[in-house]
Amino acid sequence: MIEKRKNEHVKICLEKNVQASKNYWENIYLIHNALPEIDKNGINLSTKFFGKKLNAPIIIAGITGGFQGAKKINRNLAEAASMLGIGFGIGSQRAGIENKSLEETYSVVKKYDIPFVIGNIGAPQLVKQRKKKPLSIKEIKETIDMIDADCLAVHLNFLQEIVQSDGEVNAKGCINAVEKIKKSIKKPIILKETGSGISFEIARKIKKMNIGVDVGGLGGTSFAAVEYYRAKNEMQRRIGKTFWDWGIPTPTSVLNCKKAGIKNIVATGGIRTGLDGAKALALGADCFGIAYPLLKPAMKNTKAVIDELKIFIEELKCAMFLVGAKNIMELKEKTVILDSSLEW
Ligand SMILES: Cc1cc2nc3c(=O)[nH]c(=O)nc-3n(C[C@H](O)[C@H](O)[C@H](O)COP(=O)(O)O)c2cc1C
Repeated sequence: MIEKRKNEHVKICLEKNVQASKNYWENIYLIHNALPEIDKNGINLSTKFFGKKLNAPIIIAGITGGFQGAKKINRNLAEAASMLGIGFGIGSQRAGIENKSLEETYSVVKKYDIPFVIGNIGAPQLVKQRKKKPLSIKEIKETIDMIDADCLAVHLNFLQEIVQSDGEVNAKGCINAVEKIKKSIKKPIILKETGSGISFEIARKIKKMNIGVDVGGLGGTSFAAVEYYRAKNEMQRRIGKTFWDWGIPTPTSVLNCKKAGIKNIVATGGIRTGLDGAKALALGADCFGIAYPLLKPAMKNTKAVIDELKIFIEELKCAMFLVGAKNIMELKEKTVILDSSLEW
């Protein structure tokens, strides 16, 4: 069943409109520097994330795994990440734990030398659900070994779960479960939203847990939208439509996490250009994540993924040149102008 669902997610994202109605990066401006006094060709994009060196502050956000077609997608994304020296996140590994024959749709990434690999498991699977036991620590360790992950992302997708007729909607005990995992594994953990963002209150809780965050904010791919197309009845369809644009915009989420003092912040959600990425870094993110724009190229081949990412990288460099930042540290110190609608 998960296998079918994972295949449908990719198909729907490729064929239908699954984007939030508004992309909030439009409401943010970097200030033009008419005399940047730097050489564009000397701009250095390298950075460190959880202590690992990346050639650019970019993470391929977790997309897929768990059905036969996913092997090719993950291979193309992973090879691109290794060739460009950027981070790579895998999609939810639950299918690979439950069905060993699907493991290779994830483990294919082990063939590539990627500077930072992020495993992925859902918070709903860490607590007891109506028909399911929570994953054990042994199974969590298996997810890490499956791809030799440097870090584990625990995804938060309760918006998606409410639109599914069989959604896992018990969210009690997730914080404790994450704390328990943190004590049992030697790798860092990231809490990763998947399109609904992070409020200041939740950012403070994450800071207390002393883990990283991928804000996965509103403004890009909407999982209420994805599930709207999978809905089996009018009730689920209506819920998908009603909550299509639910959440906290990605820029606001980054600001909340920065204000809370979280270290290792990834800004994912609606990043569609390298300029959006530059804005995310200037707001306080350490890296930016891209999912949807890489899906179509990943269906083709590694070159198509690299070509797309090279555009993001060049746009990031152009933005840095025009604000007069010769490295990522300098970019992070630049002033950002934001629309007052984003301050919440
Ligand atoms: C087809 C597809 C499948 C996804 N599956 C997962 C997943 O399994 N686990 C996860 O944490 N995020 C998943 N995501 C969410 C992305 O990592 C990201 O948070 C979200 O798509 C917002 O980024 P975007 O606007 O660049 O697409 C998926 C996204 C897409 C497009």
